[in-house]
Formats: sequence, structure tokens, C-alpha cells
Amino acid sequence: MAVPFIPPSFSSASLCLCLLLLASATIQTRGQKVETFTYVNEGEFGPYITEYDASYRVLPIASSPFQFAFYNTTPDAFYLALRMGTVRSESILRWVWEANRGRPVRENATFSLLPNGNLVLAEADGRVVWSTNTANKGVVGLKVLPNGNVVLYDAKGRFVWQSFDYPTDTLLVGQSLRLRDPNKLVSRKSAVDGSFGIYSLVFGPGGITMYINYVASKPLAYYNYSDGLLSFSGPGDSVTFVCEPETEDNFAWECKLIINLSRPKYNATLSFLRLDIDGNLAVYTYYDPVDYRAWEKTFAFFSDEKGWLNGCGLPSKCGAFGVCEDEMCVACPSKDGLLGWSTSCATPSLAACKEGVTPKYYKVKGVENFLSTYSDGEGALKLEECKRRCNIDCKCQGFLYWEKDSRCWLAPLLGTLSKVSNSSRVAYVKYLK
Ligand SMILES: *[C@@H]1O[C@H](CO)[C@@H](O)[C@H](O)[C@H]1NC(C)=O
Ligand SMILES: *[C@@H]1O[C@H](CO)[C@@H](O)[C@H](O)[C@H]1NC(C)=O
Ligand SMILES: *[C@@H]1O[C@H](CO)[C@@H](O)[C@H](O)[C@H]1NC(C)=O
Ligand SMILES: *[C@@H]1O[C@H](CO)[C@@H](O)[C@H](O)[C@H]1NC(C)=O
Ligand SMILES: *[C@@H]1O[C@H](CO)[C@@H](O)[C@H](O)[C@H]1NC(C)=O
Repeated sequence: MAVPFIPPSFSSASLCLCLLLLASATIQTRGQKVETFTYVNEGEFGPYITEYDASYRVLPIASSPFQFAFYNTTPDAFYLALRMGTVRSESILRWVWEANRGRPVRENATFSLLPNGNLVLAEADGRVVWSTNTANKGVVGLKVLPNGNVVLYDAKGRFVWQSFDYPTDTLLVGQSLRLRDPNKLVSRKSAVDGSFGIYSLVFGPGGITMYINYVASKPLAYYNYSDGLLSFSGPGDSVTFVCEPETEDNFAWECKLIINLSRPKYNATLSFLRLDIDGNLAVYTYYDPVDYRAWEKTFAFFSDEKGWLNGCGLPSKCGAFGVCEDEMCVACPSKDGLLGWSTSCATPSLAACKEGVTPKYYKVKGVENFLSTYSDGEGALKLEECKRRCNIDCKCQGFLYWEKDSRCWLAPLLGTLSKVSNSSRVAYVKYLK
């Protein structure tokens, strides 16, 4: 086995023989000993609650509180992943890294470190789904470091490949984004669907931008460093997520990316930063001396209470559509006026939209959304001209309009409308008779 040490907290899980160790050997290749292994995805599922309500089979590759596992949220679609948390704390176990994101494997798939040093995930019929492309590069073994970095190392202990270079939606403490790859995080599609979601966080020369990739329009920024919060100046071509004591007596800890994010009052070394399913950027901190609810969300970028920006600024805050005030979804606009909000609130269907069909609009006063926060719009444009441009574009759900300045933003997505006191900032919502 590559990592014979199994922390005590996982021993019960490993006893269930969830995975069959097919072969484990030390093979001599060109004078180098490679600690090969092969695990097969088969057998009983583990008993504990994990994130996304997933079923899982643990592998005996671990460094507490991290452990390898196959997990699935839909039948026969498995991801090879790294889990964080201990069973002892009776807190949810979270998935912090995935090898084959968006490319699930089936029952009886194999995970192997081959004699040539390549780490390979293959279907039962041998079809390779994922690999590290490290054949003949001097790899002698695999291990999980205490910080959750999975490394393939050579005879001199140098890292030939590391999972920290392939972030999914999560950065562990010590993990970086760079100007060149890896430069982004991409959210997960949903709890059930582990493939790539519509939100991304991209690190560029000036700082961080967050995008929503909605239908056929080009990605729209719902956060941009131009506001100065996640901007990055000075030399350096990377940002690292770190959590360290703020004071010498360890009374308070600080997690930061570029700026200080959260400030837990305990050892926050076991934290991660995640671009969540809803597009928010959150810090989760794990404190395992407690027996119950060891995870705490210590930061959320779009949150009045735990973050930096208005919680209503998150495009998905009110699901598909809605008016948000004080982080609450307070109304669902309709052509009959403002109705009560529910999760079914949506913009009118534009399925019948085609050339020659003139749409109508209803008006919502005193609102704005991410479009006017991070782009200048067009103008001065007369209201009729702004409307005309939206009329001829079937992907236009409506537009934002600043009446005093005659400024216009066509909206491929309206999403959450944030209530503002200035009633001359309005939204027009398109509908068909
Ligand atoms: C997995 O392999 C085992 C042993 O070869 C076999 O009994 C089982 O039917 C296979 N499972 C599936 C779903 O193919
Ligand atoms: C973000 O802001 C920078 C600096 O103002 C600008 O150059 C860039 O185009 C903006 N990005 C987006 C997607 O709006
Ligand atoms: C971050 O926290 C440190 C330690 O408390 C403090 O010295 C520093 O000024 C903070 N930085 C920002 C940008 O708030
Ligand atoms: C914080 O926790 C980490 C991981 O459990 C440990 O290695 C480190 O020594 C702790 N630091 C302090 C100052 O307690
Ligand atoms: C309302 O917003 C407009 C820009 O759309 C601005 O010109 C005007 O001064 C604002 N009014 C108040 C009362 O803040």
C-alpha cells in the first residue's frame, strides 16, 4: 500500500473492507522502486453522513483528517475524491477535491498507480477516464500530505505531480491560484450533479473576478476586483489561501486570500475556501476538538453578517428571480405588480419570442442587480432605444434603466434584484402577450 498508516478515526471504516485491494507491490523499474497499487470500486458503502448526501467507499489512502474515497450521488456515477473531517467529530464529512470531475466512472472502475509511475482511473473494461500523465517521470509513490495535498513523488522526494495544481471548487490552506494555470475555481452544478456549474472565480493580473456563465451569452461578471476588495497589487503572480494565528496567544485566527476574510476564535488550520454551488465564496473551518457540528461557515463574501458585500448582490440569492432586501427575498415582480416571493418565482417565459413578435415590459422601481454594479452600461440612451434593443434580442430578459442618467443595461439574466432607495433606478421585465 502506498500509505500504510490509517488514522484511528478511520479504522472502523477500513474494517468494512469496502474496497478490494487487488494488487500492491513494489516494482523495480529502471532502478526505481515504484509503490504500485490497484483499488477496485466495489463493495459496501460507508455508514457516515457526507456532503451532498453521497454514498461512498473509502480507500486506505489517508492523512487525517483527509481520506480518499469513491463517492456517488446518482447510481453508478462515481468520483474519486478526497474527503475532509473525522468520523469521531460526528460532523458532516466534506468533499474537497475530485480527480475525474464531470467524468464519473462506473462500478468496478480501478484506481491504480502503475509501474511506470502513471496514476490512472479506468473503467472496468480498461478505458482510461483520468490520469496524471506521469508515466516515466521518475514517480516512486503517492501520498496525502497533512494539508490535503495529494502528491506523486520521485526518489529524491520531489513532487512530480500534486493535486494542489488542479483545484476544483475548493482551495485548501496553502493552496494557490496563479496567473497561469491553475487560475480559477469552478462551482459545482448542484448537490446531486457534481459536474461543472455556471459560476467561476478567476484570478487575473489585477485581482479576482467572479463570472456567471449563463446560457449563450458571454460570461457576465457578478463580482470584479475593480471595487478594490479582492484586488491585488504589487509583485507576485499568485494568491494563496492561508489561515494563521492573528495573535501570539492563538486567541484569534485569520483566514485570508489577499485580504483578511474570516476571523475564527480557534485554530483554523483546517479550513477551506470554496466557490459554492450558488456562486458565493465561503470559508468553512473545521475544529475537531468539539464533538458536534465541527464545521462552521466562517465567511461568505456576499453576506451582510459574515462577509464583505451586500447579501442581495448575489445573482442567485432569490433563485431564478426576485426582489431582495436585507438579505431576504421579499417580492416576486409580475405584470400584476409585486407578489409574494417563493422558490418558483421566475421571469416570464420567452419561448414564443421570435422576430416580428413585439414583447411588452413591466416595470420594477428602485432596484438594481450585478450588471449595474460591475459594468457601465450604455448611455445616454433614450428609454425607447434601450427597449428597442431588448425587443430584437430573444435572449434579453429585460433591462435595467437609470432614469436620471438615461443609462441602459440589457439583461441576459435579471436574477436577484436588489432593493435600493433610489426609485429612479428601475428594471423592465420582458413578457409576451
Ligand atoms: C464487478 O465485478 C465483480 C467481480 O468480477 C462482479 O461479480 C460484479 O458483477 C461486477 N459488478 C458490476 C456492476 O459489473
Ligand atoms: C474588471 O475591472 C478591470 C479594472 O477596472 C477591468 O479592466 C476589467 O475589464 C473588468 N472585468 C470585467 C469582466 O468587467
Ligand atoms: C489583516 O489582519 C492583520 C492581523 O490582524 C492586520 O494587521 C491587517 O491590517 C489586516 N489586513 C487587512 C487588509 O485588513
Ligand atoms: C493548529 O492545528 C494544526 C492541525 O491540527 C496543528 O498542526 C498546529 O500545530 C496547530 N497550531 C497551533 C498553534 O495550535
Ligand atoms: C439616483 O440615481 C441617479 C443615477 O441613476 C443619480 O443621478 C441620482 O443623484 C440619485 N438620486 C439620489 C437621491 O441619490
